[in-house]
Amino acid sequence: MSKKPIIVFEGIEGSGKSHHVSKVSKYLKSKRIGYIKIREPGGSLNSEKIRKLILNKNSNFDVNTDLLLYLAARSENIKLINKYYKKKIILIDRFIDSTIAYQHYGMGIDLKIINIINKYLLKNIKVDFTFLNIVNKENLYLRLKKRKSLNRYDQFNMNFYNKVQKGFLKLSKSNKKFYKIIDSNIDIKKNENLIINQLKKLIK
Ligand code: TMP
Repeated sequence: MSKKPIIVFEGIEGSGKSHHVSKVSKYLKSKRIGYIKIREPGGSLNSEKIRKLILNKNSNFDVNTDLLLYLAARSENIKLINKYYKKKIILIDRFIDSTIAYQHYGMGIDLKIINIINKYLLKNIKVDFTFLNIVNKENLYLRLKKRKSLNRYDQFNMNFYNKVQKGFLKLSKSNKKFYKIIDSNIDIKKNENLIINQLKKLIK
């Protein structure tokens, strides 16, 4: 029986992670391999409601409120993840690393608090593999400029995104075996192949 891992795609804005999630889902569909796809914040019906609230340009929540809302959105996905855990491949566009990278490394919230709540929510759920997409400052700037509509989290300064990306990289270094860095500054097709090849190993 093939493996049914949880595979997460992480990275800052403009790093191409959502593109690769959609490529991987197309690949799995073409091979008739069962999977579900979630994004965070969002995914389930209630989590999507929370997403709208957090990312709305007119919201001006405190950083702690944001943290609790992201975690609330995650809480609403746990039932869905548990339902398919180990039964189907679960693709997640952002997960716990995003909370650590943005709320701790970016916004300075105590890591202990984030870890405690994540542990409380996830219990025995474990991520099997993470594709960390990275982007340089020039491409980040150009890609954000191209976006037709920007949400509340698309409008931080470069220094903030730099801190967040460094945070992601730190997380990946702590457990190299379970991460693959995808350099989105190089040819996108090359990266698509790289990801599909890694995916094949993860699900064989
Ligand atoms: P995205 O759907 O375009 O990736 O936007 C979601 C935004 O939410 C993105 O800026 C990252 C941010 N975010 C956090 O700050 N903390 C989190 O825990 C998650 C899941 C996302």
